[in-house]
Amino acid sequence: MKILVTGGTGYIGSHTCVELIEAGHEVVIVDNLYNSSKGVLQKIETISGVLPKFYETDILDKEGLEKVFAENKFDAVIHFAGYKAVGESVAIPLTYYENNIAGSINLYQLMKKYEVRNLVFSSSATVYGDDFEVPFKEEYGLGTTTNPYGTTKKMNEMIITDMDKAEPENSSVLLRYFNPIGAHSSGLIGEIPNGIPNNLVPYIAQVVSGQRDYLRVWGNDYDTVDGTGVRDYIHVVDLAKAHVKAIEYAAAHKGTEVINIGTGKGYSVLEVLHAYEKACGHSIPYKIMERRPGDIAVCYADTKKAEKLLGFKAQYDIEQMCKDSYNFTKKLEIE
Ligand code: NAD
Ligand code: UFG
Repeated sequence: MKILVTGGTGYIGSHTCVELIEAGHEVVIVDNLYNSSKGVLQKIETISGVLPKFYETDILDKEGLEKVFAENKFDAVIHFAGYKAVGESVAIPLTYYENNIAGSINLYQLMKKYEVRNLVFSSSATVYGDDFEVPFKEEYGLGTTTNPYGTTKKMNEMIITDMDKAEPENSSVLLRYFNPIGAHSSGLIGEIPNGIPNNLVPYIAQVVSGQRDYLRVWGNDYDTVDGTGVRDYIHVVDLAKAHVKAIEYAAAHKGTEVINIGTGKGYSVLEVLHAYEKACGHSIPYKIMERRPGDIAVCYADTKKAEKLLGFKAQYDIEQMCKDSYNFTKKLEIE
């Protein structure tokens, strides 16, 4: 298939492009490079042997985006482009709604105009909010989101579902990611955080590389194995492989499917820290702090639907995730 990947030079997008190319698909990337760089394209080429066609285009620029559709006949779209910082979304909500909603609507309108029927959308476990029991199941539906970023994911899910109802030829898979971490085993692509990392593993990586003094563990009084928060971490390469299966599923079916992508297993903050210590070969300093506002105690996926519909099961364990994150961080330091 010829697949448009918006946000394809970003963290999850770049890994997905590699897996799509390796599965024999043709990839065209649209990205405005807000949170990524052109250099990623060469890295994708080094790993996969193919340099993807690239448009430095903002999805908010509808004319520019239309040029991409006019010049290419796409079979499918994987839509990653968007802003993703939870805290920032609280401070500048309109910017988030503009980029993640108005940008997406431009894309969906062009898909309709150019009759591109198959879509995979990057949603998030954040749409479950704090309303349900773990493991989170797709059939729970949408919970109460606690920040504008989460609300943009929820709104996109609603928009796509309505769109598909009106256009029975459409086929969409809404992937609810749990916590993607790690990097490609080559160490060439991975997550480069912008500023002080908000997420756990990028922060640990910066403590290990000496950019931060210690990890701040946000609370150890939750009802969990050691009192620290539990999440379902998934290797970004597993997540990328799930996209290949999802877009192939979309091409072979019609309608809308919501599918969790996680491992189904939760790890506490301290368990992740210890796995990272094993990967880097030394202890990592940390301090227990107050709980972080908005955090939930435990979040992990029910993965049965991904297995049943997509035949997807995550392969990599937490140790491999930390090893690959560490390998990528070391390579970055050398660069
Ligand atoms: P990322 O920031 O690395 O990638 C997003 C890419 O989109 C970047 O390359 C950025 O430059 C581009 N982009 C942003 N706005 C754009 C615009 N208007 N036009 C064109 N390009 C634009 O983020 P990521 O971690 O790879 O996440 C990809 C998607 O997955 C996002 O939609 C994110 O919300 C979603 N998601 C991520 C996580 C996570 O933990 N990383 C979890 C759940 C969902
Ligand atoms: N944590 C720390 N110290 C840190 C960072 C995180 O102790 O410096 C803890 C958090 O309290 C939490 C766990 O590590 O218990 C994971 O936190 P992350 O920030 O890495 O991930 P979240 O689960 O909070 O958030 C992620 C994405 C969001 C998404 C959400 C729900 O970053 O975009 O999952 O799926 F909305």
